[in-house]
Amino acid sequence: MIKTVGVIGAGTMGNGIAQVFAQAGFHVRLVDVAQPMLDRARQSIERSLTKFVEKGKLSADDRDRTMARLSTNTAIEGLGDIDYIVEAIVEDAEAKRTLFTSLDAFVRPDVILASNTSSISITLLGAATSRPDKVLGMHFMNPVPLMTLVELIRGQATSDDSMRSARELCAQLGKTAVEAADYPGFIANRVLMPMINEAIYAVMEGVGTPEAIDTVMKLGMNHPMGPLTLADFIGLDVCLAIMTVLHDGLGDPKYRPCPLLRRMVAAGQLGRKSGQGFYPY
Ligand SMILES: NC(=O)c1ccc[n+]([C@@H]2O[C@H](COP(=O)([O-])OP(=O)(O)OC[C@H]3O[C@@H](n4cnc5c(N)ncnc54)[C@H](O)[C@@H]3O)[C@@H](O)[C@H]2O)c1
Repeated sequence: MIKTVGVIGAGTMGNGIAQVFAQAGFHVRLVDVAQPMLDRARQSIERSLTKFVEKGKLSADDRDRTMARLSTNTAIEGLGDIDYIVEAIVEDAEAKRTLFTSLDAFVRPDVILASNTSSISITLLGAATSRPDKVLGMHFMNPVPLMTLVELIRGQATSDDSMRSARELCAQLGKTAVEAADYPGFIANRVLMPMINEAIYAVMEGVGTPEAIDTVMKLGMNHPMGPLTLADFIGLDVCLAIMTVLHDGLGDPKYRPCPLLRRMVAAGQLGRKSGQGFYPY
């Protein structure tokens, strides 16, 4: 029976993941190496819950009870007695593998280690542990409290039991789970990211301004948000990391990250979180 959940990484995704588990009644321990990220996560979770209260979708009591189920810590060692883990640290294979190896050493052997990775091989993460059957991908969408999809990724060695537990958890969170195989980018980013990358090429080549490209995709294709607005929202560093995984993993030049994307990331123009991307914030 899963009652306590450890969420590692308190950035854009980790704080949303912690919020939805706490709202669903789980006791959540949110861990990040950076105390300021934990402080910011608590504030943004409280703000998000308060918006639900203002819209009449949550009572003030439920908001307070949800906050009371959430604790934060800078040390992963506090997760020794946890029932389930979701990792949401930086999109870097070596950083994730190192974390999975250290978690494997002290987390109970029956505990599933899930990763929110957008593109990194689940099989590779599983191989960094002694429990590859209990390592899977649980890919939430941004913003987590609003988006109902969770892409569940089965690594080469992931067991049916682990996939079943993850599906049941998604149902408890009110999310719809869709299963994907362990190929670079899985389903969501295999299809989405090349479109975003192509939109960036179109900016670079002067085919259209960011506003023109976003308007074409919104009004012409009925997308709720243009690809460049979405890229700024996701974070251009995250987009570059995902394109690099697609390019390296699939080997096809059609996946090469756009040079303009590389240049913007090198300049620290990461989108919404840095104050500047294709648009100013
Ligand atoms: N941003 C998105 O839209 C999106 C969507 C789906 C999935 N993802 C995936 O979610 C993961 C997190 O992305 P994000 O956008 O939240 O990143 P982010 O940069 O906002 O946050 C990452 C956090 O991890 C922390 N961190 C780094 N190394 C750590 C470690 N070893 N232990 C504990 N904390 C550590 C950092 O301090 C930071 O707070 C990535 O794998 C990303 O690909 C992102």
